[in-house]
Amino acid sequence: MRPPTSAAPSTAAFKRSDRRAMTGHATFVRTMWSPQDGTIEAWAHRYVTSDELPYKLSPPPPPKEWDPSAEPLVLTHPGRPEELTLAGRGTRTPGRDALRRPERRAQLLHTFLHHELQAAELMCRTLLAFPAAPRAFRQGLLSICQDELRHMEMYAEHIERLGFRFGGFPVNDWFWRRVPETTTALQFVALMGLGFEGANLDHTARFAERFDQAGDARGADVQRRIGQEEIPHVAFGVYWFEKLGHAPLTFDTWRAALPSPLSPILMRGNPIDREARARAGMSGAFTEALFRFQPTQ
Ligand SMILES: [Fe+2]
Ligand SMILES: [Fe+2]
Repeated sequence: MRPPTSAAPSTAAFKRSDRRAMTGHATFVRTMWSPQDGTIEAWAHRYVTSDELPYKLSPPPPPKEWDPSAEPLVLTHPGRPEELTLAGRGTRTPGRDALRRPERRAQLLHTFLHHELQAAELMCRTLLAFPAAPRAFRQGLLSICQDELRHMEMYAEHIERLGFRFGGFPVNDWFWRRVPETTTALQFVALMGLGFEGANLDHTARFAERFDQAGDARGADVQRRIGQEEIPHVAFGVYWFEKLGHAPLTFDTWRAALPSPLSPILMRGNPIDREARARAGMSGAFTEALFRFQPTQ
């Protein structure tokens, strides 16, 4: 059954202990707060909750002012345009031969575009959830959101070159079902910045190679450029993981910060791109431990 696509997103706001919200357990308490018009928070809120496809693909630039009276606002799901069909489960990744068909390449890029959309939304969700986090952290989330919007455009352009459009294939809100489990800024950085964005470094390299093999050099180039631009996102994760957690990034400190029951196995590609991860600031020991991790550990 198709889930509702334009259900009003939750606008319930929750208040919590600021210090605990940064690194430890947070207790949510419902409050009635909404951002002031013309602020970054209002822009972020509208971006997450909008159910208009043109707005999701190309919102206006964000304002410059932060809301001085911001309180924690926890959005649990995004607005979804009716043009997007939500699939109950993800589609299987096409194999090498299947990617010779433009339709399958467009479908794969469509999945990646939807990942970028969810990443953009989740950056907004997180800057709204943790108003007491350092300004530089929240500014960084906003800046990453702008990168993700550009990545969406890059994918959309190539999908159109292949003869398709955003909305032409079903989508799956996989990230939105997992990231709201994070109740602290540290957990968010561990899961999204280091876990999912780290895996993206592996995936973009692997699929760029597959697109080349399928004869789509332009599609390969799009993925390589996006992969390069994801490196600073992971570096942002490394920096803030250590800053918020007051401890160096190791495989064990990272695992301890992941919301249960999410496994590191979801957060690596095959093969792992050791060079890209090193450029993002992950140590060789971290990457090796991730590579060797087995679910029975
Ligand atoms: Fe991206
Ligand atoms: Fe990213």
